[in-house]
Amino acid sequence: MSDNLHVSDHALVKHKLTLLRDTTTEHKKFRELIRELAMLLGYEAMADLKLAEYAVKTPLAEAPGYILQEDVGLVPILRAGLGMVDGIHEMNPGAQVWHLGIYRDEHTLRPVSYYNKLPVEPTVQVCLILDPMLATGGSATAAVDILKAWGVKRIKFVGLIAAPEGIKTLTKAHPDVQLYLAAVDDHLNEYGFIVPGLGDAGDRQFGTG
Ligand code: PRP
Repeated sequence: MSDNLHVSDHALVKHKLTLLRDTTTEHKKFRELIRELAMLLGYEAMADLKLAEYAVKTPLAEAPGYILQEDVGLVPILRAGLGMVDGIHEMNPGAQVWHLGIYRDEHTLRPVSYYNKLPVEPTVQVCLILDPMLATGGSATAAVDILKAWGVKRIKFVGLIAAPEGIKTLTKAHPDVQLYLAAVDDHLNEYGFIVPGLGDAGDRQFGTG
């Protein structure tokens, strides 16, 4: 297993992911679970953010401390990544949110980019790409291509469930990108769905499909 692949072993992640997969889980609960899982995985993904030493005055004395030195961009891939933003944003309220619209053509399974309003110059040093599902890896690879072209050097992918095929594609194209996942599933079926997976993460969040 690559050093850049982090699959959570946390009991809460395992518990919540099981509820998320359950076909009887309703949209509202599904959205809550996506938010909570994103928070837990985002916490791990931001563990190595650069800090500067910062002396803080307590009511009693000066104490040594730290402040964040890096600007973080949260980059949800529309649509399904949207539900992963709020939890992570609450933990790091200084983060910027940059949306990328990428959908997967259902026949070719190739990513189609349809929305990107990134400014010319990068405004952050670290980006967390947010998308619950890493299936063929095409969408995530396209997102990393876009962010690297924008000029961001440190890019991490935060997902929930990945297929081995998607991990292989993304890590081959971008070996420097770290992956934070809740689980690696068995395989992709003939329609490009992760098995056992959880179905369509966008449809289950937004009540469509
Ligand atoms: C899903 C998912 C990923 C992508 C993964 O999005 O949220 O973005 O497919 O597939 P890949 O790894 O094979 O590229 P989808 O295309 O269903 O769009 P949606 O979120 O708008 O429903």
